[in-house]
Amino acid sequence: MQWQQQHGRHDLPWQNTRNAYRIWLSEIMLQQTQVSTVIPYYRRFLDSFPDIRSLAVAPEDDVLARWSGLGYYSRARNLHRAAQIMVASHAACVPQEFEALLQLPGIGRSTAAAISVFAFGARHAILDGNVKRLFARRFGIAGFPGDARVMSALWQETERQLPKLDIESYTQGLMDLGATVCTRSKPRCDLCPVAPRCVARKSDAISKYPEPRPKKILPQRQIQMLVLLHAKQVLLEKRPPTGIWGGLWSLPEAVAGTDIKALCAQRYGATVTTHEEMAVVAHGFTHFKLDIAPQRLGVSRIALRAAAPGLSWLTLEDALDAAIPTPVKRILLKVIAG
Ligand code: ADE
Repeated sequence: MQWQQQHGRHDLPWQNTRNAYRIWLSEIMLQQTQVSTVIPYYRRFLDSFPDIRSLAVAPEDDVLARWSGLGYYSRARNLHRAAQIMVASHAACVPQEFEALLQLPGIGRSTAAAISVFAFGARHAILDGNVKRLFARRFGIAGFPGDARVMSALWQETERQLPKLDIESYTQGLMDLGATVCTRSKPRCDLCPVAPRCVARKSDAISKYPEPRPKKILPQRQIQMLVLLHAKQVLLEKRPPTGIWGGLWSLPEAVAGTDIKALCAQRYGATVTTHEEMAVVAHGFTHFKLDIAPQRLGVSRIALRAAAPGLSWLTLEDALDAAIPTPVKRILLKVIAG
């Protein structure tokens, strides 16, 4: 706690407030994304949705558009649903009870704890990625933290270490220590207040903790994306609500070997006049790698199907502002650049 006060972070945009909505939003954005990436998204999101009610009544497309580029879009859909539940069942407030927080979509044990600590000053243990590494090293907890037995040992220790008072500085201190000192590579043990008691350090085995995820070769998938261009507009298609990029707007897809002209005519009423193969764009997901082969297609005629649900012709500029996945944004930027 002393270390946090002297050397920790005190001016992050979600600090120095008890606004539970802002704290909840920050914790969701920070779940799989680092602080420097989150900050501009956090500010823009709050400009658009300053409170729970404005988020709850917003169309999902607007929420996803604001999230576009941050990745892990189920976080945005869960946030939106949770805001609606808060309006319906919690008087448009973030509930204070730990169990009620845990019931909300997108809020697990560690996130519920962080919200409880920072918004309500309650005494709960967090265990995010940084804290797992810190505790694995400090207490010499071996094994991959994804294993249930290892997780259970880590939780037990974080519960045991909770201080009686000043839970906010303690919790922020754990996050700060993990993010700035007890880093995955090249930790700064010379700056660390717990170095003298650190089991990993004493056994000269810092790099062994935490153990990495057992290596698994990720499957590789290939897909073609169709960049249909007509009168300076591009065709976007809304993805189904669940699965990869659920609910986002994306480019139409085709499996390799498809007769693209026939597909364009049949599915989109489009007559293809030019076809240029663009460079492959690679994108990594948690469970597989995706190679995207974008096909730039000039289209001379489109059937009057503008109102088809889930299809939208947009200028390239408007498409960039829509709720699109990052690799689609990269492809569109290449098209604009010529
Ligand atoms: N990561 C998760 N929550 C955080 C917070 N409140 N401050 C900094 N990093 C975090």
